[in-house]
Amino acid sequence: MSIVDDDIVSNPSNNESLAEVLQARVSRRSVLGGGLVTAAAAVFGGGISTLVRATPALAAAPLGFSAIPTSVLDTVVVPPGYRWEVLIAWGDPISTGPAFAPDASNTAEEQALQWGMHNDGMVYFPFTTLGEQYASNPRVAQYLDPRPAFQLHGLFFDWKNGSSTHGLIVQNHEYTDDGLLFPDGVADWDAEKTDKSLAAHGVSVIEVERIGGAWQVRRPSRFARRITGSTPISITGPAAGHPLLQTKADPTGTVVEGTLNNCAMGYTPWGTYLACEENFNGYFRKTAARNALEARYGISAAGFGYLWHTTDERFQVDTVPNEPNRFGWVTEIDPIRPTSMPAKRTGLGRMKHEGAWVTTTKSQRVVVYLGDDERFEYIYRYVSDKPWRQAFFHGEHPLDKGTLFVAKFKDDGTGEWLPLTTANPALSGFATQADILINARAAADAVGATKMDRPEWIDVRNAQLEVFVTLTNNSNRGRAGSPGVDAANPRPNNVYGHVVRWRYANDFDEPTFAWEIFHLAGDPAVPAHGSTINGDKYGSPDGLYVDPNDRLWIQTDVSTSTINAGAYAGFGNNQMLAADPTTKETRRFLVGPKQCEVTGVFMTPDSRTMFVGIQHPGERPDDKPGDPANPTEFSSFPGGPGSRPRSSLIVVTKDDGGKIGN
Ligand code: FEO
Ligand code: CA
Ligand code: CA
Repeated sequence: MSIVDDDIVSNPSNNESLAEVLQARVSRRSVLGGGLVTAAAAVFGGGISTLVRATPALAAAPLGFSAIPTSVLDTVVVPPGYRWEVLIAWGDPISTGPAFAPDASNTAEEQALQWGMHNDGMVYFPFTTLGEQYASNPRVAQYLDPRPAFQLHGLFFDWKNGSSTHGLIVQNHEYTDDGLLFPDGVADWDAEKTDKSLAAHGVSVIEVERIGGAWQVRRPSRFARRITGSTPISITGPAAGHPLLQTKADPTGTVVEGTLNNCAMGYTPWGTYLACEENFNGYFRKTAARNALEARYGISAAGFGYLWHTTDERFQVDTVPNEPNRFGWVTEIDPIRPTSMPAKRTGLGRMKHEGAWVTTTKSQRVVVYLGDDERFEYIYRYVSDKPWRQAFFHGEHPLDKGTLFVAKFKDDGTGEWLPLTTANPALSGFATQADILINARAAADAVGATKMDRPEWIDVRNAQLEVFVTLTNNSNRGRAGSPGVDAANPRPNNVYGHVVRWRYANDFDEPTFAWEIFHLAGDPAVPAHGSTINGDKYGSPDGLYVDPNDRLWIQTDVSTSTINAGAYAGFGNNQMLAADPTTKETRRFLVGPKQCEVTGVFMTPDSRTMFVGIQHPGERPDDKPGDPANPTEFSSFPGGPGSRPRSSLIVVTKDDGGKIGN
C-alpha cells in the first residue's frame, strides 16, 4: 500500500547501546566491503553444517523459466510459455451480486456484495474429496459443522494433496483509494460514502474452479462471503474485555465492528484464514493531545486523509477514545462456515501487523511469525502453550493461550527470542499480560528488541527449519536522530531493502537461532547500491512465498512516488521474482501494470496454477486520492484503454499445463 503514509516513525525508544552501534558499524563495513563474506554469514554458514545436522540439505527445484526484462507497460508481463488472466477485480460480484458499474456508481450496499478494493494477502484453500461433497451437498454441512476444529482438520482443506481445480480463495482488501471509489471522488462526503469505503475494505471469500482449463469464480456459491469494516467480529484471548477495549457501543470489550487495513495473511493447520490489520491508525483522528499509547501506534490529528470520522463517531478518538485499541490485531476467519463470526485473536499482540505465518513444532505446538511494518519496528513470534489439537480438545483456542516473543538479531549472526510476559523482569511496568499485548510495541522496546527496516512478509521452509523475512526499506536508517545501522539492518538510507533468513537447530520453538542476510536488494550491476543479488535487480521486497517446490517468490512494493524514478530509475514497474534458496539465484518472473504493487501469491498443490494479486494499478504518484475527473490518468488495467483501473486477482498458468517455475 502506498496511498497512505508509510513514512511514519512511531518508535522513540532508545534500546540500543552505543557499544552495539559501534559493533554494528564494524559489521556494516564488513558487509559492504567484503561482499558476501560477512560476520553474520560466516556464523550462519557454520550453522548450516553444525547446528542443523538433523536436517537433510534438500536442494530446491532449480529455476526453469527464462527471466524477463523490466517493463513499464500498462499490463502484466510473464515469461515465454506462460499466460495470465484476470479471475476477479474490484467491484465484480463474489456470488450472485450486482455487476461492477464502470463509473464507480455502485452503492455501499452493492459494494458489500462485491469484491473489495485493493486486494492484498491471499490463500487458496484446496478442497479435499469431502470438501467437494460438502460444497455440493448442504446436508453434509449440517452433519459436520458441530464438530470441534481439531476434528475438522484435513476433512475439508489440504494444502499439500487437496484439489488443484476446486477450492476457496480468501483475500484481503487492504485499503481504498476514495478518489476512484466514487464517480465524484471525495467531494460532498457523506455517510453513504463512509459506508461504501468500509464495504470496500475487509476480506472476500470466493469459490473458484478450473473447468476445461480455465479458472472461474463459481456463482452462486454458498461459501462466498464479504467481511467488511462493519462486520461484527469477536475479540478473544488475554486482552478480550480489557477496559482499554471497552466502548460505549460495546461495554464488554468483546465485539468490534469490522476489520481494517488487512495487509498480508496466514493460514492455520485447522483450516482457517488469518487477516492482519496493518495501518489501522490512518482511519482515526485525534485532535486533543495524544496519550503515550496513541503516540506509539501513530494515532494523529490528520490520519491518512480518510473522511470516515466526519460521519461515523467511532473514528473520532476524542469522542470514542478506545476504538483504535480494537484494531491492530490478527482476525481469524473460518471460510468453510460462511455464517461463523470472525475473531480477533489478541494473543498475537497488537501492532501494525503485516501478516501471520503459521508453522508447527515437532510436538504440534503452533508457531506464528509476525512482522510489524513500520520503520524501526520489530519481528515477533508466538508459540502456543499446548499442541493445537490438544488445546481444542480442552476447549481452548491455540491462538489464545501461548507466549509472544520479539526478536533480537545479534551482530555475531545469532539471535534470540525475548518473551513478552509479566514474568520478564524488564516488563515489570506492565500490570497484566493484556496490558503487554495491547501495547506490544512498548513491551518490545522495554526488552531491547532489534529495530528492523520495516518487516513485511515472512515464510517458512519447514524441512530446513528456515524462516525468511522481507525488510522493504528504511530511508531513515542512520539519519541524525534515528537509529544507526546494525548487522541485520546494515545499510544507512536503506532505499532498496533486504531479505533476511534465520534457522533453528532442532525446532521452531527454540529460544535462539542463526541468521544471515539472504539478499541486499538493489541493482547488482551498480556497485554503489551494494546489492548482493545473484541475478535480476529489484528493490522494496514485500510479498514473499515459499512454494510447494521450495522456491522463494519475492514481490516488490516500490512506492508509487518513486516507481521507475529517482533511485528506482530503470527498475520498471513493480514485479515478482523467483529465487533459489540454495544458490540464491534470482530471476524476474512477472512485471505488473503501471503504478501497481504486486502483492499476494499462492499456488495450487500441483503447482500448475499461481494466483497473484495486482494492487492499486494507476495510483497517483503524489500519494493523493485518484482524480475522479481523470481516473485513467495513470493506468487502465485490466480493462484496457478508457477503463477505470481496478485492483485484480490474476491467474498464471503455463501454456503446456506444466508446473510454474519449472
Ligand atoms: Fe501493507 Fe507492509 O505492506
Ligand atoms: Ca505488504
Ligand atoms: Ca508494503
